[in-house]
Amino acid sequence: MSGVSDLPFRIINRSFGAPFAFTEMIDVNALSVLDKRTRHMLSSNPGDRPLGIQLLASDSKDILKALKALESIEYDLLDFNAACPTPKVVRKGKGASLLKDPHKLKEILKVLVNHSPVPVTVKIRSGWDSDSVNAREIALCSEDAGINALFIHGRTKTQGYSGTVDYETIKEVKDALKIPVIASGDNLNVPRIKKMFDITGCDGIAIARGSFGYPWIFHDLIRFFEDGSMGEEPGVNARVEVMKNHLNLLVQHYGEQRGLGIFHKFFIWYTKGIGKTRILRDRAFRTERLEEILSLIDEFQALDKNKMSQATRHK
Ligand SMILES: Cc1cc2nc3c(=O)[nH]c(=O)nc-3n(C[C@H](O)[C@H](O)[C@H](O)COP(=O)(O)O)c2cc1C
Repeated sequence: MSGVSDLPFRIINRSFGAPFAFTEMIDVNALSVLDKRTRHMLSSNPGDRPLGIQLLASDSKDILKALKALESIEYDLLDFNAACPTPKVVRKGKGASLLKDPHKLKEILKVLVNHSPVPVTVKIRSGWDSDSVNAREIALCSEDAGINALFIHGRTKTQGYSGTVDYETIKEVKDALKIPVIASGDNLNVPRIKKMFDITGCDGIAIARGSFGYPWIFHDLIRFFEDGSMGEEPGVNARVEVMKNHLNLLVQHYGEQRGLGIFHKFFIWYTKGIGKTRILRDRAFRTERLEEILSLIDEFQALDKNKMSQATRHK
């Protein structure tokens, strides 16, 4: 996930049981330049496996160069992004814009499948807009190209990240394909994830926003599938321990200034849904030094523990 699933984020989530993780999406053009930002996106370590790298491209011509640039990197899967709705991505004919051209997408995927040293998957959306929901056609074209599995976010490009998830279209795609279908969209907690499996019959689910500031979602899921129980939400001390660990990893990975800049949003996510922390969250964005954010974390820890009961994760 762009701006989120860097190495520190993946380490934290794996420590809670995330069985597979992806890099942020990486533009094939950036791969040939391999600037500092792209190198950070690609950095990994032996504990960070299995790992998928997600690529973004508008056509097949730069794919071979991108694969060459990845030769010295260890990874387990290549995912191709045909889902990103961001204007600056779509304007360049990348991401969700490929939903409008299933044959072009198929050509790109064919090149990837023919040259990739690892399994290839694609990530799609239900369609461009509500008048052009074509996920089934896109999915069949992608399967034809020889990919190993397909990820589908059950929203259109126009919906972005809002509005309701179209479970029926995900089910239609699942029923049409022979390869595994992994469903995405509002997989925010155990009941929602159960709903996704129950309605769509999908082979797997992808977790995105449900893990932002809440890596415990993986514990919750593992416990639920083991014995059907929901478990307790983490208390303030557990949250603080993970926040400090995450901050530490970010500072090690990026240096203090950039690490702190990235942590701002995580502070918001780790404390979200918990009563009377709004002022802390406003202040978090203005912190410029490590000591300031650490003292905000201490203030968070000092909050009355009863307020933690206002967290509403399982609803
Ligand atoms: C901040 C953010 C960044 C994202 N970046 C990517 C990305 O780089 N590649 C991708 O395939 N999906 C990306 N997504 C989409 C998610 O993978 C997921 O499909 C979407 O958020 C729906 O799932 P959710 O409702 O459970 O969050 C991103 C989502 C968010 C919120």
